Amino acid sequence: MRKNIVAGNWKMNNDLSQTERLITDLKKQSKTSNAEVMIAPSFTNLWHAFEATRLDDIEVVAQNMHFAENGAYTGEVNASMLKSIGVKTVILGHSERRAYFNETDESLAKKVDAALAHDMRIIFCFGEELADRKAGNEETIVGSQIKNALFHLEASAFKNIVLAYEPVWAIGTGETASPEQAQDMHAFIRQTLQTKYGNDVADAMTILYGGSVKPANAKEIFSKPDVDGGLIGGAALKAEDFYAIVNAF
Ligand code: 13P
Repeated sequence: MRKNIVAGNWKMNNDLSQTERLITDLKKQSKTSNAEVMIAPSFTNLWHAFEATRLDDIEVVAQNMHFAENGAYTGEVNASMLKSIGVKTVILGHSERRAYFNETDESLAKKVDAALAHDMRIIFCFGEELADRKAGNEETIVGSQIKNALFHLEASAFKNIVLAYEPVWAIGTGETASPEQAQDMHAFIRQTLQTKYGNDVADAMTILYGGSVKPANAKEIFSKPDVDGGLIGGAALKAEDFYAIVNAF
């Protein structure tokens, strides 16, 4: 059985006191679904968030990391640093990092290798832009993003990987992929894995959808057979909305 996961990507939001407040609010919510819950605060708030959720059913994850072991990379954070404060999962390949920080399939492949070498779990993000979808190229783009960053791995590595399909045109725009568009792409992603790695890897893979998921649309999106959860941006910044999404399973 694959896992259901709802992860909140806080992006560059919430200073320390806002983080404290949101976590206090999150802890007041009750979970009625079996979904794993994750939150991804900024680097400066990871330690606080980890300590504050130690006894709770909430995993604290990082939004990014560097691939190097250590060295002269001013401003960067590596896997050992994350692990040393208890963080075991990292989001890699978010479209905002690809667009604004020049992350490429090649640099992401190195980050994937580094995270796996440190036995970290990865939420690997990818997705097409609006022009790709309009041109009917979404499967070609998504297929190449997955192949270029992940297909050098052994099948066994995929037990530490969660995939997150986030069409760029649906992120922060209020425009969601329809449940059918999400299902079609998730089925394609699973098929892509199946072709390379076989049924066991494909069936076990948790594939999240991200892009304007809200309490009002989560249930319908999550009802699709190949959608195993969500990566939530804006709606993850309000505890009630986030848990309404968690409980949409
Ligand atoms: P929104 O939910 O704000 O569209 O953001 C989605 C996202 O980018 C999550 O990583």
